[in-house]
Amino acid sequence: MNIISLVVWTLEKNCFTVYTALIVCFVGFTIFHKNKLEAHYRSAEKKEKLARTAAVRKERDFRDDSDEDPELLVPAIPEDTPHIVYQPPRRTDDEVLRRSREYYELMAQRRTVRTFSAEPIPQDVLDNLIKTAGTSPSGAHTEPWTFVVVQDPKTKEAIRNIVEEEEELNYSKRMSRQWVTDLKPFSTKPVKPYLTDAPALVLVFRQAYSWRPDGKKRMHYYSEISTAIAAGFLLAAIQVR
Ligand SMILES: Cc1cc2nc3c(=O)[nH]c(=O)nc-3n(C[C@H](O)[C@H](O)[C@H](O)COP(=O)(O)O)c2cc1C
Repeated sequence: MNIISLVVWTLEKNCFTVYTALIVCFVGFTIFHKNKLEAHYRSAEKKEKLARTAAVRKERDFRDDSDEDPELLVPAIPEDTPHIVYQPPRRTDDEVLRRSREYYELMAQRRTVRTFSAEPIPQDVLDNLIKTAGTSPSGAHTEPWTFVVVQDPKTKEAIRNIVEEEEELNYSKRMSRQWVTDLKPFSTKPVKPYLTDAPALVLVFRQAYSWRPDGKKRMHYYSEISTAIAAGFLLAAIQVR
């Protein structure tokens, strides 16, 4: 009896066991793949839902109510708003050179700091810093920002808790390993004691749109870049002390 005959003979002799094993394998394989397929479709569905939500949000941010009704096509700021003419003071070339150098030297001293003194900041100074940030240019002069100064210790602590929780997730899950590695020279970490040490926090919010007095939506064009520029103005203002 050769090996093939022996295998056939064994299979015939144990056909019940063999068929049962085959059926069990088939059912197991089907269930395994069904679960895998279901997981795949669930994640695809979730991704699609997320993409749809992002698309709706984007559309909502950019959709202009006025486009649907020509009657509503009035400028967001009155057409007869007086134009404030730019009147730069006249200076000699030497003066311009000196001032540009001094401003450069001042700004070159700016540093990202991660430890702060608790010494209070006069309210008038804080007001001037925010007012300076508010002079920033913006798309169609929509000024799409809100600056919130927080000095209350309890609110600062609540903000610190939220930021630290988010940063913990950023460092452990959201940021790539390369990103976390690139941050090593700065010794940054999720724990941020300076958020409660500093006497004041300035929260910068971007408004994607706002509401006109007549209840219609007022579009804020280039709101992200406008708010980022205003944040830059704020940093520059803080440096002048
Ligand atoms: C968009 C942006 C994001 C930043 N994010 C962080 C941050 O999450 N944590 C931090 O400690 N510094 C952050 N920084 C500060 C940079 O690390 C810092 O600007 C850079 O190291 C250069 O140092 P300097 O600001 O002292 O010139 C950020 C800066 C920018 C412009």
